[in-house]
Amino acid sequence: MPTSCARSSIVYSVPVLVLGIETSCDETAAAVVENGRRVLSDVVASQILVHAQFGGVVPEVASRQHVATIVPVIQRAIAAAGIGWADLHGVAVTSGPGLVGALLVGVETAKALGYALDRPVIGVNHLAGHLAAVFLDDPALPSPPPYPHLALLVSGGHTALIRVEGSGRHMLLGATRDDAAGEAFDKVGKMLGLGYPGGVQIDRLSATGDRDAFTLPRALPGRDDIDFSFSGLKTAVSTLLARRASPPEGPELANLAASVQAAIVDVLVRKSRRALSREGLGALVVCGGVAANRGLRAAMATAAREDGFALFIPPAKRCTDNAAMIAAAGTQLLARGERSSVDLAVDPGLPL
Ligand code: KG4
Ligand code: ZN
Repeated sequence: MPTSCARSSIVYSVPVLVLGIETSCDETAAAVVENGRRVLSDVVASQILVHAQFGGVVPEVASRQHVATIVPVIQRAIAAAGIGWADLHGVAVTSGPGLVGALLVGVETAKALGYALDRPVIGVNHLAGHLAAVFLDDPALPSPPPYPHLALLVSGGHTALIRVEGSGRHMLLGATRDDAAGEAFDKVGKMLGLGYPGGVQIDRLSATGDRDAFTLPRALPGRDDIDFSFSGLKTAVSTLLARRASPPEGPELANLAASVQAAIVDVLVRKSRRALSREGLGALVVCGGVAANRGLRAAMATAAREDGFALFIPPAKRCTDNAAMIAAAGTQLLARGERSSVDLAVDPGLPL
């Protein structure tokens, strides 16, 4: 495999091709990544339409969908990369956190492939995958972030501020005390009758709404901590809706969506700024599904200009769940000689 390690990039003597597999929630994804940087293929089969009819992800349905989709998705990833099975150097797979049945499909498939191809398999922490997405080559990201940096990881299950010292070396600085930011988007979206996933719909509606139309709470504003709480926002929207004779529609709905988005984004930006200054860091990475939010991206860009920190946000398709980020994180682990054994187990509550 690899050779030496310099800053964030490992120097490879030969192209190292790793297959990434991601099935922790409602996307069945496979990707081939070269040297942990260059994405040769990136296939994502979304289950959103299947789960939308239930208003959220149904774990048993997710597992069954993964079982039906995983093999063709991997075959497409290999074909689209223009490689043969024997060209792969290893298989990286999400082993947690996530839905237990969904994770099992990916992990067992990876183990079978590793055995059949006689290649190493490495279990990857889904959150480490999100943190690694920013190291994948992209025209919008001409250089990788320097170490150490601050990462704001905002997804459907997590909201955390993390000090990243190096690949695999993290320190959790702050986290949500209740709902994750994505969960807050999705739950409020459901209250507004926007369907699943609410985050995407609120982002879309916010483009035409007035963010100051409704006054909504910003949690823990005066406190000097960098934790988050979104349950108060959820309660405020629920109370506001209960007091009305009819649900908001048209421009009023867009105004409420924009006000909700602003309430979430303001807190994420404020706490990130506080953490950067407290930690003396000059670079911020924003990752996870909510990092696809246009309001958050714009507000972070403004904060970066005002405060003078360097901002790194992967393109939207690499913020939401994908397998390229798992391959990137897995390549770094394989490069350090790490391997998972055949009894690699899934861990639904795996911490970072
Ligand atoms: O990272 P991700 O794909 O899956 C998890 O690891 O949870 O994140 C999914 C979350 C969902 O809550 C979804 O509503 C949110 O990311 N999300 C967004 C946007 N796109 C996805 N939230 C706000 N605006 C978006 N554009
Ligand atoms: Zn995720």
